[in-house]
Amino acid sequence: MQKSHDLAPDSAQPAVRTVVVPAAGMGTRFLPATKTVPKELLPVVDTPGIELIAEEAAALGAERLAIVVAPEKQEIMRHFGEFSALRNRLMERGKDEQAEKVSRANGLIHAVAVTQDEPLGLGHAVGCAEAALDAEEDVVAVMLPDDLVLPAGVMEKMVRVREEFGGSVLCAFNVTEDEVFNYGVFDVVPADGDVAGVEVLKVRGMVEKPSKEEAPSTLVATGRYLLDRAVFDALTRITPGKGGELQLTDAIELMIQEGHPVHVVVHDGKRHDLGNPGGYIPANVDFGLRDEKYGPALYTAIKQIIADFEAEHPEVLARGEQA
Ligand code: G1P
Repeated sequence: MQKSHDLAPDSAQPAVRTVVVPAAGMGTRFLPATKTVPKELLPVVDTPGIELIAEEAAALGAERLAIVVAPEKQEIMRHFGEFSALRNRLMERGKDEQAEKVSRANGLIHAVAVTQDEPLGLGHAVGCAEAALDAEEDVVAVMLPDDLVLPAGVMEKMVRVREEFGGSVLCAFNVTEDEVFNYGVFDVVPADGDVAGVEVLKVRGMVEKPSKEEAPSTLVATGRYLLDRAVFDALTRITPGKGGELQLTDAIELMIQEGHPVHVVVHDGKRHDLGNPGGYIPANVDFGLRDEKYGPALYTAIKQIIADFEAEHPEVLARGEQA
C-alpha cells in the first residue's frame, strides 16, 4: 500500500488519513469468550467487528488504521495479515469467494498497531496514537469498534460539518433519560449556520457518564469522532476523570472551554453496541436477516424461536400489550 507521505503535496488528499481504533479493552462483558479471543474479532454474522470498522474507514478514504492494542492483544493485528497460503489453498479448490474473504481486510487499509501499555482510559488510548500520524495531518478520526453506526456515511457528514465550521465534530445519538449514564452527554445550542442534509448542533459542553439529574441533554456521543489534532495537546492536560480514567470527553470539554469549535451531527439512523452480548446479539440478528445467504432461513427460524418462547412465557405477550 502506498504510504501517505509518498503522496505529492498537491495530489487530492483524503479529508481524513488516519483513523484511530481503540481496541485495548479487556472485554470483560464477553467472558469467557474473551479469555482467548479479543472482543473485536467476534463476528457479526461472519465478519469481525474490527473488519467492519476497517471497511468504514476505507470508505471514508482513510489510508491508515491505527489500532490501539494492549500488549497481550496483539493478535488483533493478525487479522490484517496476508494469509497467502490459506488464500492459495482456497483458490486451488475453486473457493474463490472464500479466498476473497481471506484477503479482504488486508486490502482495505494499512493497519498499524499502537501499544497502550496500561489501561488508563479512552483518552489515554487515543493519546497513544499521535505518533502514528504524519506531521502534516491536522485532523484525526476516532472510531470505537463497539459502536456500529448505520447506515454508513455518518463520518462523511462530519467531514462536511468540519469544512463548514472548522474545529472538531462528533456524532450524537438521542437516547432515553435512563440511558445517559452510560455515555458522554452533550450540552448543545443551535449552530450558527447549516450544512445541507445534516442536522448539526453546536456543543457548549460535554460531560462523561452523568447521572440522569446532571445530564445536560439526552444527546450522547456514539463512537465516531472527527478531532482536530489539538486534541492530543488537550489529552496531555487532563487529569483522571470518571472511573479514575483519562477520558476523551474531558479533553473535548477542555477544548470547548478554551474556545475550540465543537459540533455534533445528530445521527438519523440506528446503532448497535457490540460491546456486550445484549447489543451484540441484536446486531447479529439484524445483519443476519439482511444476509443474502442466511437471511431467509434465519427469518423463519427466529419467528419460530419467538413463537416457542411466547408459548412458554405468556407473560411477555401481556407485557408487550401494555407497552
Ligand atoms: C465511551 C466514551 C463515551 C461514549 C461511548 C460511546 O464510553 O467514553 O463518552 O458515549 O464510548 O459508545 P465506553 O462505552 O467505552 O464506556
